[in-house]
Amino acid sequence: MVARVIPVDPFDLVVFGGTGDLARRKILPGLYRRFSAGQMPRESRIIGVARKAMTREDYRAVVAEAIGEFVAPERRDGEVERAFLDCIDYVAVDVGGDAGWSELSALMREGVVRAFYFSVGPGLFGPLADRLHAHAIADTDARVVVEKPFGNDLASARALNATLAAYFREDQVYRIDHYLGKETVQNLMAVRFANILFEPLWNAQFVDHVQITVAESVGVNGRGEYYDRAGAMRDMVQNHLMQLLCLIAMEPPFRFEPDAVRDEKLKVIRALDPVRSDEIVRGQYRAGATTPAYREEAGDPDSLTESYIALKVHVSNWRWKGTPFYLRTGKRLRARTSEIAVTFKEPPHSIFGEGESWKENVLVIRLQPNEGMNLRVMIKEPGPGGMRLKEVPLDMSFAEALGGEGGADIPDAYERLIMDVIRGNQTLFMRGDEVEAAWAWTDPVIAGWEERGDRPQPYDPGSSGPEDALMLMHRDARRWREIRD
Ligand code: NDP
Ligand code: BG6
Repeated sequence: MVARVIPVDPFDLVVFGGTGDLARRKILPGLYRRFSAGQMPRESRIIGVARKAMTREDYRAVVAEAIGEFVAPERRDGEVERAFLDCIDYVAVDVGGDAGWSELSALMREGVVRAFYFSVGPGLFGPLADRLHAHAIADTDARVVVEKPFGNDLASARALNATLAAYFREDQVYRIDHYLGKETVQNLMAVRFANILFEPLWNAQFVDHVQITVAESVGVNGRGEYYDRAGAMRDMVQNHLMQLLCLIAMEPPFRFEPDAVRDEKLKVIRALDPVRSDEIVRGQYRAGATTPAYREEAGDPDSLTESYIALKVHVSNWRWKGTPFYLRTGKRLRARTSEIAVTFKEPPHSIFGEGESWKENVLVIRLQPNEGMNLRVMIKEPGPGGMRLKEVPLDMSFAEALGGEGGADIPDAYERLIMDVIRGNQTLFMRGDEVEAAWAWTDPVIAGWEERGDRPQPYDPGSSGPEDALMLMHRDARRWREIRD
């Protein structure tokens, strides 16, 4: 089944950092796919910006190379590619300086949506906003897309919000968390709020616990300098895992619209208890047979930064009091897999008597790979010989269910989010107060480690993380789900 495509209005999108890793791997290939799907109109323009002096033709070659490297061969088409490259332009600007802005300004057209993607280093987000304003390039309908990390702590996030607020209305600011653009993450809302089946059970009375796992098999891969200042808590928990937790725990918004959804997510973040130091485990990967240790990749032989974190989180409100949320994420783990598992409580009374091999119902939402849902239910084991129970999965792969043999055409998170920017839909973007609330919860945890000189526990690459993370569950008589493909 080919996804239904509604074209967006023509736009001028300026990609600051247009030659960088993110632009080459995600933004430009994603735009190409939207173009080839018929969603990006041919009258649109993508203007790459970086410091390097280049002609338009040079930059088109950069874009063509990115398409060659990051777009699947079956999605490529020479004629479409040529038409797409016609939409590409380039201007050299040092966003920290004043040269080049008038050339950029001259390229911008009236009567189309203007969007500015901040895909430069986070230290340049503020200066970039200043310059856009000073050179009067962003009109009152313009949108600015701000990459992560949005601050490094509450104070820096507040300062950045204040800078943006000086020049733009909140409805012009699109703070990216690419997890919100993943198909299955949005499906979480569909599963919860478009079915009557789950919502009545979606509370502490019926849910025993929730596990959120985002496991990666890769290391820090050339991003060691950034990562060593961030660690798993800032890089993944404060944003991606927090967003997943919010979507699982939030109350039904009155409508699927930006502020209604974001109000409910904010209430969840505000309801989080401070994390106890004995309910958090940090890890750091050792060297493997063929892979370097974290410290080597990070370039700091004494680094105390965590490449793994597991924590138990309590949402103190009427719906969730008493149901723990266990979160974990890490690099160089056994497999790349992300999932949310909701484990329900046992029925109040078993009519089948003691000793039956009863297992809890578990709803697993697989984010990646193999997006889908799986519900473990109990049935009678077939055959004579009395009533014996057996667990079976009700398994649904979204690609198979929606796509038949070819699989569904599921857009990548970035391409979906960029189209939302052009449409002016902020539902899948973080609001300023949400980001600040997430930092307000994260900051004391990190400060606690720093005060105590906390040392992450080593773990083997290809494992499920450090031993103590298992204990975090065992002492609650629970177990982590296996990390596997
Ligand atoms: P890169 O270092 O690969 O690219 C940086 C880009 O910015 C280059 O195009 C560079 O070109 C340009 N640039 C640097 N300084 C200036 C300047 N003063 N004026 C104008 N352009 C400048 O970074 P990434 O692409 O990896 O990251 C970009 C942003 O995206 C960062 O904020 C990062 O945190 C975020 N991000 C990246 C992810 C990734 O996977 N790469 C994932 C999530 C977020 P030139 O040197 O020619 O100026
Ligand atoms: C990024 C983090 O935001 O998300 C990276 O900075 C991480 O460290 C990445 O690898 C994971 O994203 P995905 O989409 O591959 O799960």
